[in-house]
Amino acid sequence: METLYRWSDMRRILTGLTSRSMKGIVIYESLTGNTRKAGEKIAAELSRSGIPTIACSIRQIDLQQLSEAELVIVGSWVDGLFLFGQKPAGVRRLIELPAIDGKTAAVYCTYAIESGKTLDKLSAIVERRGGNMIGGMAIKRGELDAGASDFVDRLVGVLEAQSA
Ligand SMILES: Cc1cc2nc3c(=O)[nH]c(=O)nc-3n(C[C@H](O)[C@H](O)[C@H](O)COP(=O)(O)O)c2cc1C
Repeated sequence: METLYRWSDMRRILTGLTSRSMKGIVIYESLTGNTRKAGEKIAAELSRSGIPTIACSIRQIDLQQLSEAELVIVGSWVDGLFLFGQKPAGVRRLIELPAIDGKTAAVYCTYAIESGKTLDKLSAIVERRGGNMIGGMAIKRGELDAGASDFVDRLVGVLEAQSA
């Protein structure tokens, strides 16, 4: 017999019932499309969990959705010399993100080999814009779908625990 729902889907549906009013936005910096793809997957999975979320480029932020969102997820890609000097790409645009005071926030990055301290640096930037950080994940570029799903599972787990 075919399994209708994975356990993680069930948990998300149940969580969706309790956090129906929360909206989300994913804001990504992307050069070759990986961080955009991961961001779109994260937005789709959060929406499926009952948190209506859109993904948009940092160059074209949907300010209406941002103002309504309680959950802001910021993504970038790892820019460095592969084995050292890693940092989030697009730092100038990231530090000029609109203020997100009081909003719940999380970060992710996509990378090829080694992400170094990129997540910590990205978290610090988002925190300085006013976000209340609840987590972050480095997603390997060959595992975008699985990484994005895993990230959403963890975020939903944290949100669930916070609302309990
Ligand atoms: C100029 C440049 C520098 C990069 N530096 C690193 C690095 O230091 N470590 C790493 O793991 N990946 C590095 N990458 C790989 C990217 O982080 C990876 O391909 C990422 O998924 C690209 O995201 P995007 O498709 O959204 O642009 C680099 C890529 C470029 C173009």
